[in-house]
Amino acid sequence: MTNAIAPLWRRFPRVCSNRGEDRGFVNWLVQNFSKRLRYAVQNPRYALRSLYRELTLADERFLGRLTGAPARKIRRLLNEPIRTESFASCLRTAEENFQNLEIQSADLYAKKILVQYAAVRALQPEIIVETGVANGVSSAYLLFALHLNKGGTLYSIELGDPQYLPVDKSPGWVVPAWLNSRWKLVIGDSRVLLPQLLMQLGPIDIFIHDSLHTYEHMIWEYRVAYRHLRPGGLLFSDDAAWNSAFGDFSREVAAPQAEVLRGVGFLRKGFA
Ligand SMILES: C[S@@+](CC[C@H](N)C(=O)[O-])C[C@H]1O[C@@H](n2cnc3c(N)ncnc32)[C@H](O)[C@@H]1O
Repeated sequence: MTNAIAPLWRRFPRVCSNRGEDRGFVNWLVQNFSKRLRYAVQNPRYALRSLYRELTLADERFLGRLTGAPARKIRRLLNEPIRTESFASCLRTAEENFQNLEIQSADLYAKKILVQYAAVRALQPEIIVETGVANGVSSAYLLFALHLNKGGTLYSIELGDPQYLPVDKSPGWVVPAWLNSRWKLVIGDSRVLLPQLLMQLGPIDIFIHDSLHTYEHMIWEYRVAYRHLRPGGLLFSDDAAWNSAFGDFSREVAAPQAEVLRGVGFLRKGFA
């Protein structure tokens, strides 16, 4: 290796490595490849920034700091759902369903879901609370993580708004029956149900906001949930870049670790 190439090699170690677990970065990236390519052509700056983060393992390093796991392990975890046939086939079925129903679904293989999955695998939580289920894509990933962890329960609160669902489908229909045993889904408004649920549960390990993305609702959910988060526990917020609620809240609680990855806000509660 020449001296000119060596620094590059060191900078992008995982991509240049021949180790099977590390080469897998292509796994999730090649799903929906044509859609991703089209998006990259339309948003070249975003694509370049994402590629740079991918090559330098920036997301994995941050999640590693958050959960105490090595970045290389996080990279391996990101590939697990797609490599596990039982779960991958459930994603394919969901995709077919969306196509048959002629519904434009969210990207079932988006890294924004995978980073949440990997954090749950790495942290091994006992109690996760999420708001906003809709079809249940993120719930399915979270439940698959708990399934492989062999522990933990996901408590989900969903309003049941039909505008987010295909006709004749109920909230969380994407979740396969074999993942149901670790899931407690309640239908209703998080404004009412979230404080009640948190009072019953005691300290929780992870809170995930993905319900109503208004500034007021987001910061309200963060404040309510944060009080019940154990020290070292994590808060995720989908679509955190839609407004300044996540940034404002991170400053409000002086979160020692807070960042937005792929549109998802992550913060860790301090131990003080
Ligand atoms: C963005 S979707 C959730 C997507 C889901 N996490 C997924 O991965 O497929 C937002 C969901 O939040 C629900 N929602 C909105 N306001 C809510 C509230 N106040 N309480 C509970 N759920 C709410 C909506 O009904 C909708 O299903």
